Amino acid sequence: MTHPIITAIEERRTTVLFDTTRVLSDAQIQELVRLATRAPTSFNLQNWRFIAVRTQDAKARLRAIAWDQVKITDAAVTFIICGQLADEKTLPDRLAPVVEAGIMPEPMVAGWVDAAAGLYAGQPWRQRDEAVRTATFGAATLIFAAHAMGLGAGPMIGFDQDAVARDFDLAANEIPVMLLSVGFPIAGNWPQKPRRPMDDVLTLV
Ligand SMILES: Cc1cc2nc3c(=O)[nH]c(=O)nc-3n(C[C@H](O)[C@H](O)[C@H](O)COP(=O)(O)O)c2cc1C
Repeated sequence: MTHPIITAIEERRTTVLFDTTRVLSDAQIQELVRLATRAPTSFNLQNWRFIAVRTQDAKARLRAIAWDQVKITDAAVTFIICGQLADEKTLPDRLAPVVEAGIMPEPMVAGWVDAAAGLYAGQPWRQRDEAVRTATFGAATLIFAAHAMGLGAGPMIGFDQDAVARDFDLAANEIPVMLLSVGFPIAGNWPQKPRRPMDDVLTLV
């Protein structure tokens, strides 16, 4: 029997046509984000934030600064998936529950903080790369959580980043990496598109 995760990878498609009459409860939105945050992040930094745009007014405001993409108002919710610039100073707090759970010995924390400082401190490009990686892993995991709940998802980069940051009160250390519309698919969405040949994308060394 095919494993359900493989089935989901093969079934998933980008959803652009949503049932405009169906909403998600805040509890359902929380469950999607709870699952999304099971994705891995560098040093367990968890340098992300998910803004769930789900009222008609907020969706209209977002659509106006996102290429007028209809799916933003049609979908039950559109997430602004934010990455936060990687900052080793956040790490002791993020690792405390890991120590508490008995997974990591407490004396290791300082070593991780030093390693993270070596990577990111004074390195704005690396801080930003990590923000984008983190948000992207979160978005990908959210997409599959949505799929498992019978929902469709559509990622978007077609939006005005400065306007989104301004109008949705992003902090100075936050980047709106992606929008992700999530809701109930209707008939007419394309199937998953064909991919490039294996020889073009895989290098075996
Ligand atoms: C990072 C990213 C940005 C995207 N931006 C948009 C967008 O702004 N508008 C849109 O309609 N589709 C957007 N898409 C959807 C892609 O066109 C779609 O995922 C791609 O054609 C593959 O579709 P499939 O996975 O269903 O085969 C985006 C996808 C990704 C991953």
